[in-house]
Amino acid sequence: MTSPAKNIYFLKLQEFYLPLAELESQSFFGFEISSDQRFVFSNEQVDISDSAFFDWGGEIIIQESNFEAYLEALKNAQVQVCDARIETPSAGKHPKIKKDVLFEVLEYIEGTFNLSQPKERYAICRDHENWYFVKIFTEKLNRMFEHSKKPATFSSALNSISARVAINILKSAGPEFLDCGCGSGSLTLEACYSGLKTTAIDRSAQAISMTSENLKHFNYSAEVHNKELKDWTSKHDSAVIDFPYGFSCTRDEEDELQNLSLLFPLVYQSVFFSSTDLRPQMEAIGYQIVNHKVMKYPNVTRHIIHAIAGRT
Ligand SMILES: C[S@@+](CC[C@H](N)C(=O)[O-])C[C@H]1O[C@@H](n2cnc3c(N)ncnc32)[C@H](O)[C@@H]1O
Repeated sequence: MTSPAKNIYFLKLQEFYLPLAELESQSFFGFEISSDQRFVFSNEQVDISDSAFFDWGGEIIIQESNFEAYLEALKNAQVQVCDARIETPSAGKHPKIKKDVLFEVLEYIEGTFNLSQPKERYAICRDHENWYFVKIFTEKLNRMFEHSKKPATFSSALNSISARVAINILKSAGPEFLDCGCGSGSLTLEACYSGLKTTAIDRSAQAISMTSENLKHFNYSAEVHNKELKDWTSKHDSAVIDFPYGFSCTRDEEDELQNLSLLFPLVYQSVFFSSTDLRPQMEAIGYQIVNHKVMKYPNVTRHIIHAIAGRT
């Protein structure tokens, strides 16, 4: 049986990161993955190139539950490719298919092949249920792993996976992003990579110098200001506050509350990283909570709260 035209997206994920992957899936597809889900079907063509977890996606050309039926369907489909590379990526939790299987499948594919500079890319892969022949249209390209090796950092820096997901959540709010309390600039780097017009502020001069050094290292540009949020009045489409919690930047609950209120009129949407669940305090200010997850890192628990703020 040949599947109706729809797309499939595969993700690689360690269990630990599930809350972040749920948030990211929601932002890309409008629904959360379940805990053992390693692929998503969607009729939408979604660009996952700057995903933290989704590896690649494509249009399903053939989908069959057993190999004989798969080969038969390929034969009947008379697939014609042009300057194509046929790949065998791993699909979700299922390992790559073996070379001898690839060669068997290739017998049923007509056309021209170009391994070094392909115009078209296809995937032969399987999960525990089905065999797929897929035309790839999107794959993860992001620089997150390079960013995680940024030259200037400190103990309270957000890891690049969390920063990546926060930016993916907020991209749709608009192009102007505020990294409020930028520290070493993990969020700023991800926002720049995604092409957002980024402003970074921090009350610490040391933080400003770390963020500036990291921007220069990756050849990104952003506005960087040594400012406290209380002295900041510019409006942006979205912002993240990664609240202090560590030894080098201690938690101040009063300051958290004040900053929640100060940010509210400045942006349409926000993501907060906090040590406790700030939703009651946020709702009292007027924030509408969109999503809330908890990440338990080895030394610290972070609540990640996505909310609609009050910019009019
Ligand atoms: C947890 S750190 C942020 C880490 C950052 N996300 C990173 O990846 O390096 C919190 C930062 O917020 C800054 N900060 C705290 N309160 C602030 C305020 N009211 N205005 C501006 N910056 C503030 C601190 O100086 C500190 O650099």
